[in-house]
Amino acid sequence: MKKIIAMLLTAAISVSLIACGSSTSTGSSDAKDTAAAEETASAEGAESDALADGKLIVGTNAEFPPFEYLGDNGEPDGFDMALIKAIGEKLGVEVEIQNMEFGSLITSIGSKIDVAIAGMTVTDERKNAVDFSDSYYEAVQYVILPADSAIAAKEDLLGKNLGCQLGTTGEYLIDDLIAEDGTTQKKSYNKAVDAVNDLLNGRLDCVIIDRNPAMVFQSNYPDQLKLTDGAVYGFEPEQYAIAMPKGDTVLTEKVNAALAEIKADGTFDKLVEQYIQN
Ligand code: ARG
Repeated sequence: MKKIIAMLLTAAISVSLIACGSSTSTGSSDAKDTAAAEETASAEGAESDALADGKLIVGTNAEFPPFEYLGDNGEPDGFDMALIKAIGEKLGVEVEIQNMEFGSLITSIGSKIDVAIAGMTVTDERKNAVDFSDSYYEAVQYVILPADSAIAAKEDLLGKNLGCQLGTTGEYLIDDLIAEDGTTQKKSYNKAVDAVNDLLNGRLDCVIIDRNPAMVFQSNYPDQLKLTDGAVYGFEPEQYAIAMPKGDTVLTEKVNAALAEIKADGTFDKLVEQYIQN
């Protein structure tokens, strides 16, 4: 009986909570409440929803060495993983990594994951869906070529079979080349390594991918593959940043503060040295 009363009480409380919750979206005094709540949220020391449970769920795509790859134990490892763990430590939260397709990261923020770190370039289009932390790394797209390739300038890429990872800025550059010359072919892969394999098999003329992963992939086949800097083809520098839920300014400020500390105390440079070959 006691149990039943307790259950009824719980039910009654949750009904009244629901009633309360739904009424806040209407009346004008409720609008004030919302404004007040927002003010508190942005105040010093306020909590972000993403951090409220003491856990930061971080999405990545572990197909992008040296920033993220599956380590020997099958768990995501790499520069970004070490960086986000250091940030989690500064924020006093546990970091849990979820590995997923690169193209699913942005749409999963706010549902499956809190934030994403994946060597992700800040673009205007992505900024419509997410906020970005301060940038932590400058990159540029590189072109991986067969060692005997004659491709040496942007015009040489037109009309060729170009490979990339699906949903990446490398793919956007190929789309631009296709817009310039409709005979240009694109093949996008879920895993960059599969594009590299098709390049080795002669099914592609090149792979367009960020500089550091390009260096890692090429270094596995130094006799068969060579690299060219995307600047040769007119590709612009890109900035990597952590993608955050849109409008969670508390979280963005905290992550930026942690990132600044990590840069100032030498941790950042140590991680660069540990993970990134230059
Ligand atoms: N920087 C590129 C972009 O943002 C590629 C990132 C791919 N990252 C990954 N973890 N697969 O589109």
